[in-house]
Amino acid sequence: MPPRDDPPATAVAAQTILSSLPVPSYLQEIYWWAYVHPWAVRVFERDWLVNLILLGNYARLRDAALAEMRRQGGGRTLQVACVYGDLTVRLHQELGQGATLDVVDVMPIQLRNLKRKLPHGANVSLLHRDSTALGVADATYDRVLLFFLLHEQPLVVRRRTVAEALRVVKPGGKVVMVDYHRPHRWHPLRPGIRAVLKHLEPFALDLWETELAAYLPSEMAFVSVDKRTYFGGLYQKVVVSR
Ligand SMILES: C[S@@+](CC[C@H](N)C(=O)[O-])C[C@H]1O[C@@H](n2cnc3c(N)ncnc32)[C@H](O)[C@@H]1O
Repeated sequence: MPPRDDPPATAVAAQTILSSLPVPSYLQEIYWWAYVHPWAVRVFERDWLVNLILLGNYARLRDAALAEMRRQGGGRTLQVACVYGDLTVRLHQELGQGATLDVVDVMPIQLRNLKRKLPHGANVSLLHRDSTALGVADATYDRVLLFFLLHEQPLVVRRRTVAEALRVVKPGGKVVMVDYHRPHRWHPLRPGIRAVLKHLEPFALDLWETELAAYLPSEMAFVSVDKRTYFGGLYQKVVVSR
């Protein structure tokens, strides 16, 4: 794919680049209360609530993602979609001097919230983009993180998001995905979690049925695909090395 408009990855301060982008229909219809409504940030930007939603696993999953991202640090990093909590602040800290971090999100309210959380003058570019059309050249980044984004997206969107993440990562780089996964049969919370997800996050159950590896573009070659599960299988980290 030819290069499109390249974001300024060496911005000297956290900056928001806004363009006119439609809000995806699944965010409007299903997740309006979590990410779109003006009160969403005020309600959900609380560490204890983020941790409760992940059944006490936030720190563990965040740290698992961070450990992958800081291995072979430096270079250019992309986080696809903002998250509530301190993941991005820590990622920025851990990448260290000389590394660049770009974060994309389709919702300006989420980018503004992230800007507020980052230290003043942080070398982070905040880009108003859709995960299905990142608008950067092929092989731009050394590593890309998708933290609990894919379960929110309908199948077609999820496939495009994974393909974009892999398109923009360099050969030798990696894409790290942390998300839901099918819990073990004996997991005591399994029936309750299934009911909650079916009601509130209907696409999440796709990840109970389908391995994330199944969304990787078939025409692309990978060095390795490593999966690890957490909390009785309810969560997973998949690292795809190109
Ligand atoms: C990463 S997900 C879920 C994260 C997690 N549940 C948390 O605690 O925040 C939430 C973010 O994804 C963003 N998002 C959803 N669909 C997107 C898309 N197609 N492109 C870019 N950002 C998207 C939302 O605007 C929101 O900021």
